[in-house]
Order: sequence, then C-alpha cells, then structure tokens
Amino acid sequence: MKVKVAAKAGFCFGVKRAVDIARKCLHDRDGPVYTLGPLIHNDQVIEALAREGIGSVNDLDEINGPGTVIIRSHGVVPEVLRRAEQKGLDLVDATCPFVRKVQRTVRDLVQQDIPVVVVGDPKHPEVEGIVGWSGGKAMVVADADQAKKLEKYHEIGVVAQTTQRQNNFDAVVKVLKDSGSRVQVYNTICLATAERQKEAQELAQQVDAVLVLGGKNSANTAKLAQICRTAGKPVYRVETAEEIDFAWLKGLRTVGVTAGASTPGWIIEEVSCRMMDFEETNKEEVMETQVEEQ
Ligand code: F3S
Repeated sequence: MKVKVAAKAGFCFGVKRAVDIARKCLHDRDGPVYTLGPLIHNDQVIEALAREGIGSVNDLDEINGPGTVIIRSHGVVPEVLRRAEQKGLDLVDATCPFVRKVQRTVRDLVQQDIPVVVVGDPKHPEVEGIVGWSGGKAMVVADADQAKKLEKYHEIGVVAQTTQRQNNFDAVVKVLKDSGSRVQVYNTICLATAERQKEAQELAQQVDAVLVLGGKNSANTAKLAQICRTAGKPVYRVETAEEIDFAWLKGLRTVGVTAGASTPGWIIEEVSCRMMDFEETNKEEVMETQVEEQ
C-alpha cells in the first residue's frame, strides 16, 4: 500500500508561531503562563503544553494574581485585551498576523461608517473576535443565501473568516454586487488554508481513501474532510494514530494523508509509522493464509 502525505499537511504559520510564542514565554518569563482558551484546536498539543507548565483558562477572572496571558492565534475582542491590562497581567498577543489584518480592516471600515459583512461562522472564536473589532457592528453571513437577506446598502465592505472556502466567499460577493451596492472586497482568506484545501482536493482524486488528521473541534480539519469527500472516496477523520482501524485500510492500494492547520508534525509521523505497522501485520496475515492453503 502506498501512502501519500500532502506536502502542506499540519501546522500553519500562525499556529506554529502561537505555539513557539507560548513556549518562549514559559522560558523567558517569571510566574505562571496561561493561554486564554485552548491555544489551538488540538487536544494532544494542549496536553503537551500543560505538561510543560502552560495552563489554560477560559476567562480572565480565573486568574488571581500576577502572570502572563497569551492570546491565541484566533484573536479576541479588544475588550479582553483591555481587561487583561486592567488586571495587571502581562499580555502576549499571539493573534495570527493574518487574523489581525481582518480585525484592522473591519475596524477601519466601521470608522469610515461603511457597513461590513464577515463571511464565516458566527460562533467561531475568530469571527467573534473580528466582530468585536467592529464594535459589534459587523454582520456575519455563512453563505450566499444569508447574504440575500441583508438590507441593501449604497456601499458595503466584505471580509472573510481566514479559513473560508474561496467559492463560498465569491458567491457572497456576487450577491452583494448584484444587489447594486458598491462593494469593497477584502479577500482575507489565508493562503495556508486555500493551499491545504486545493492540495486535499487533488490528493483525494489520486488515492483510494483519505485519512484526515486533526482535532475533532477544528473547523479547518472538518473543511478538509468535507472537500475530500466530494471526490467520492472514503474519508476517515482521526486525532491520533491509535484511532486508525486497520480494517479501513484492507485492500487499498493508495491512501492519502492530510492534516488540519493545528496538527503537529509528530502526529503525522506517528500516523506514517502506524501505516507501516499495518503493512507488516497485513504481510504476516497474507503469508499465514498462503501457508494454510498449501
Ligand atoms: Fe493564520 Fe492562516 Fe493559520 S490565518 S492561524 S496562518 S490558517
């Protein structure tokens, strides 16, 4: 069985940067280090960081006393940054620079009194943060159907959650333009996401089945799986190598492996090792069957 691992699988620039920043804080700073919310959507990495001494809180009120608080790559609403400073905490902002660009874009549009639409999932922390930077004024739409229900504006700005699919963003932009508004389009889709999605699509067409690695709560991993499924091949989502069921692999000639942006390289390596284990087990089983037949 051949295993094809997508070249761009795993940690993106922003996630790697956030993890590196967190580890550097632990090394360089005195006192406890916390992340506000899980640093990334990957339980195995969060557990590893916790073992190293980096705690996680869901609310700043859980921190009593001095310490360092790290803002994760998704970013937060500006109010949280203010509260951390008021509490006298050392603030380290690991918001991904690409997310920060979206936050600044909505803030600038609102300052110019231009209504702004965010294409994305309103419940995703990145989108909640972006809306916060608009002073709560940005309108969030998930897709073209929701965009059709918006009021008509003379002028409107549109940005994307960084992990949006290009065709969904384009469809919303088309609806806004067709409504007669003057539309300022800011394509804020992150290249890392677009590259991973394109690669996953191509990979799924070349293999018999795809393993998609990543946290169960990772939106970009879910999107990769969704894209792979459109190729009509079986798609299996796993967080760790142990979750791979050898029964899935029986009779396959080629298996593709891709991974969400918050999946570390060591999980991808463990999955490759598990595939080798499968090869070994499979070979032994074939040999045993041949011996029995003789
Ligand atoms: Fe940043 Fe793109 Fe990753 S926005 S966190 S580099 S997916």
